[in-house]
Amino acid sequence: MASLVARGAFILFEGVDRCGKTTQSTKLVEALKSSGVNAELWRYPDRTTSMGQMINSYLQSKTEMDDGAIHLLFAANRWEKRAAMEAKLAEGVTLVVDRYSYSGVAFTAAKGIPGLDLEWCKSPEVGLLRPDAVLYLNMPVEAAAARGGFGEERYETSDLQKAVRANFDKLREDWWTIVDATGTVDEVHAACRAVADDAVAKCVAGAPYARLWD
Ligand code: TYD
Repeated sequence: MASLVARGAFILFEGVDRCGKTTQSTKLVEALKSSGVNAELWRYPDRTTSMGQMINSYLQSKTEMDDGAIHLLFAANRWEKRAAMEAKLAEGVTLVVDRYSYSGVAFTAAKGIPGLDLEWCKSPEVGLLRPDAVLYLNMPVEAAAARGGFGEERYETSDLQKAVRANFDKLREDWWTIVDATGTVDEVHAACRAVADDAVAKCVAGAPYARLWD
């Protein structure tokens, strides 16, 4: 039987570290809620689960792990949340998500490990829910680094981030929205808000779910 509740939208923020994803995703959820949209902020990795704690320990260089194994763990951290995500959307909750499979592929492939190319990196993500909208916050790595420098975590170096950005360019699809993230917080927010409103409206109107990488 078809649900009587309109489904929520899955709105994803992607981009290099320090591009403003956290500020913008938080602001977008607040704006959606204040206009009456039931919305929640999610992020990957989800460090609260036991897999997420292993990822956290790896990112903080407290443990070492094979590059293929950590890649599969990042993907598994999305699979373990899949049913909960789909249930939320079906209940009518719009999910604003900070990073997802595109980060997963862009970061691992940026390491340049033989065999772990883009296609290999995509495979454990195939079949996960596809976002209804991707807001790619586009920013040169130099501009992102100038915002106070990268932090202490494993992947926060300019060379890796440049390779990540090049991979995002390869992963981009024509339905993504590329937002100039060098603008002011309000300018970037306005661009994101317009895309989010459109995605929410399409889902209310019955847009079907899709899967990665169909
Ligand atoms: P995140 O918690 O978003 O950190 P930040 O707020 O500093 O952007 O992500 C942590 C790191 O994990 C980040 O460098 C990107 C990387 N990452 C992967 O390598 N694979 C993944 O699947 C995801 C979601 C993130």
